[in-house]
Amino acid sequence: MSKVDVLLGLQWGDEGKGKVVDVLTPEYDVIARFQGGPNAGHTLEFNGSKHVLHIIPSGIFHESKQNVIGNGVLIEPRIFQGEVQALTEKGVDATKNLCISQKAHLILPSHRMLDAANEQAKGNAKIGSTLKGIGPAYTDKIARNGLRVGDIMQNDFKERYELLKCQHLQTAHSLKFDLDAFRIDGMTLNEYEALWLESIATLKQFQLINSEYYINRRLDEGKRVLAEGAQGSMLDIDFGSYPFVTSSSTITAGVCSGLGVAPSRIGRVMGISKAYCTRVGAGPFPTELFDETGRRLCELGHEFGATTGRARRCGWLDIPALRYACMLNGVTDLFITKPDVMNDFETVNVCTAYDVEGKQIMEIPFEFNTMEIKPVLRSYEGWKTDLAGCKSYAELPERLRNYLEAIEELTGVNIMAVSISPDRKDVLYK
Ligand code: GDP
Ligand code: IMO
Ligand code: MG
Repeated sequence: MSKVDVLLGLQWGDEGKGKVVDVLTPEYDVIARFQGGPNAGHTLEFNGSKHVLHIIPSGIFHESKQNVIGNGVLIEPRIFQGEVQALTEKGVDATKNLCISQKAHLILPSHRMLDAANEQAKGNAKIGSTLKGIGPAYTDKIARNGLRVGDIMQNDFKERYELLKCQHLQTAHSLKFDLDAFRIDGMTLNEYEALWLESIATLKQFQLINSEYYINRRLDEGKRVLAEGAQGSMLDIDFGSYPFVTSSSTITAGVCSGLGVAPSRIGRVMGISKAYCTRVGAGPFPTELFDETGRRLCELGHEFGATTGRARRCGWLDIPALRYACMLNGVTDLFITKPDVMNDFETVNVCTAYDVEGKQIMEIPFEFNTMEIKPVLRSYEGWKTDLAGCKSYAELPERLRNYLEAIEELTGVNIMAVSISPDRKDVLYK
């Protein structure tokens, strides 16, 4: 009997999960997404081309590996169709190695409308949602009103769809939302809805399964399963900087409910962190840099959202947040990405503690959103070396290895590997 290994983000998302899952896939038989939806944007690069996945697991380019969209994921059929088509154009037939949980919930066009309506109603307090309908669709799931993938095969699907849409329109009306001005991809709600309903046919081409049985059977057979996280631990619905979070459980616990595996079946937990920090959307970010260094991180790291194209906020590595994420997830191995972005930096800083009114704290306070937090910084000498030529961990410049060792010491978790470029081939195992 084998266990599910987990690969998830330890920061505010965009740590490089897509790339790393793609790199790890050869070691596994099954790659499964357990939460989130099209708010995710996972980038993979190999053979000189770049691919961005939103709902489909990042193992899809490996033909012999099975990919699973678990019950904890949200599917927007029209976005899913676009992703499937993009893969087809690249010669990948996803129907061959992707199956979908019947219990995964659907994002309706009117969920996307509600997302926009909620954000508008919040005014200055808005979350900075990706506007893919995530919050409203998970709300319906928890409120027991949602529609699930398996429902598309039922005769009363359209009726139930209309009923739910009607409720959503009433809510939007009560929020004084201007429906006439609302557009999805440049289309009115009705125009988009027509395409959305058509795209259900694409979903029907896939194997719709009871994925909890599928995954547990594969484990019984000794097959290796990798769970792919979306978003990051600091965006978790319970432990992130609420309400500036996403609406799912992004941590290891989410693997159990999002795939139907018992906690005793969780194996290694690989946590990814950038060598610095980014955040897209609103909410606290103690190490954020508003100066030239922040702008350099953004520019050199190409820190623009893979889903929305928004510029990401950048700052130094935040150790209190990273330690918190390691604790919540039970991280067994760290995977560090993007140190190459700081190749030319004279100095690299890390935040080792928060200064709150002159007192140093190491824990994330309940008042994280409102408190004035000054990062306590420790400086490391920059390595001032192009990492492009490095073929092994041992070849990394000593000053970078010192920086990485400091991360291990400060978090108490060993680094398993370092990624030094967006490309599949540039991963150095320790
Ligand atoms: P994800 O959401 O965690 O999968 O990450 P994203 O794909 O949203 O963002 C990560 C970005 O960094 C993508 O553009 C990747 O191609 C890129 N990337 C991943 N690893 C590395 C790395 O080690 N170095 C550099 N320079 N870029 C990387
Ligand atoms: P990946 O998987 C970075 C952020 C949004 C917003 C908040 C809520 O690519 O790492 P939502 O659309 O979920 O209602 O937005 O969460 N967010 C992400 N930030 N990477 C992501 O995914 C994200 N998914 C959501 O920017 O602040
Ligand atoms: Mg991303």
